[in-house]
Amino acid sequence: MANLRLILVIGGTGAQGSPVVQALSESGRYSVRVLTRNPNSEHAKKLSALPNVTLLQGSQDSQRDLHAAFTGVYGAWVNLDGFTLGEKNELFYGIRAYEIARHHGVQHYVFATIDYGLRKAGWDEQYHCGHNDGKGRVADLILGLSHVESAAAATAMKTSVLATGPYMDMLFDGMFVPKERDDGSFVWENPAGDGKIPLIALDDVGVYSLWIFDNPSESAGLNLEVATDQVSFAEIAATFTRVTGKTGIHKRIPLEEYLPKAEPYPGAYANWTIKPDAQARDESFMTWRENFSAWWRYWSEGYGATRDMGLLDRIHPSRIPSLEAWMRVKKYDGRPRSVIKDLHEFRSSAAKSG
Ligand SMILES: NC(=O)c1ccc[n+]([C@@H]2O[C@H](COP(=O)([O-])OP(=O)(O)OC[C@H]3O[C@@H](n4cnc5c(N)ncnc54)[C@H](OP(=O)(O)O)[C@@H]3O)[C@@H](O)[C@H]2O)c1
Repeated sequence: MANLRLILVIGGTGAQGSPVVQALSESGRYSVRVLTRNPNSEHAKKLSALPNVTLLQGSQDSQRDLHAAFTGVYGAWVNLDGFTLGEKNELFYGIRAYEIARHHGVQHYVFATIDYGLRKAGWDEQYHCGHNDGKGRVADLILGLSHVESAAAATAMKTSVLATGPYMDMLFDGMFVPKERDDGSFVWENPAGDGKIPLIALDDVGVYSLWIFDNPSESAGLNLEVATDQVSFAEIAATFTRVTGKTGIHKRIPLEEYLPKAEPYPGAYANWTIKPDAQARDESFMTWRENFSAWWRYWSEGYGATRDMGLLDRIHPSRIPSLEAWMRVKKYDGRPRSVIKDLHEFRSSAAKSG
């Protein structure tokens, strides 16, 4: 591994982190250390088979493990899992991970975030979505630190933020999977308004992340908001029809009707991967319904459609250019495929228990 710069990837076994590990490994310029709770999972084993990738067992919410993970690395790419940690822990460990990275002399820190929806929607509380804002606050804080530190201290570690939006791949898994009707049509029944949603194809997340590490003079201090296409749900349905020849329909239904059907289990909290009684919760924990009410409002009212597509074209000229192109590349047919690791494990454990 001579001359390769070592990058710690937190969340590397996940849907978003896997393409980042792959792109870093494929570049031949970096070696990768992936923090995972379970080095024996199929996701982890697949990554460890890639050139110059090693696994480190540990947890995002252990300061001891974070110290071990950041020791000796050149750079870090950090995607915390809000659906496991919860908003409060995501804020705490988001800040602690950054501080621990500084302690260990990391030279380039990339924080994977989502939009700070509450700020971008003008501090209106109905847009407070815990799993968006948990990351968004950390991103603002760490980028803002350069203003309060001396110039020399601020440049000691380059900091970049990569802001994704909802994954285009959620059309396969999670919130955006349509229902197939007996008449062969596909229906997206959800509370989405008419606004454009910045959907990001996971296949391109690795390239943007690699660009950030390869171009520190341009990427330091940058909040790179990425998307493949910015589309409304009516456009998603119409694109589906164009690509597949099947009827795609967006049916808007009220949140009150949607939420009970969509939550992972009745009364779930925003950090729904933690079993109902396995964690003491206080009033800072949002329920899944509260969290995703704000999530649908923020994204589907168009607040996130702020991506600079010209900049993205320049950074990644061969990026997937549109939702239509993505559907064609993926041979999208409206039917579900597994993408999200948390969901995969949730379904497997539900199947085992009964
Ligand atoms: N779904 C979307 O459209 C979307 C869009 C933008 C951002 N996000 C955000 O992305 C995050 C989830 O990442 P993902 O989409 O890649 O989900 P995912 O496929 O379910 O993967 C979850 C990742 O988090 C890791 N993880 C969870 N708890 C951990 C812990 N305590 N210690 C170490 N690693 C832990 C898992 O690693 P191991 O299991 O190997 O330990 C895995 O790498 C969430 O915060 C979500 O808000 C999601």
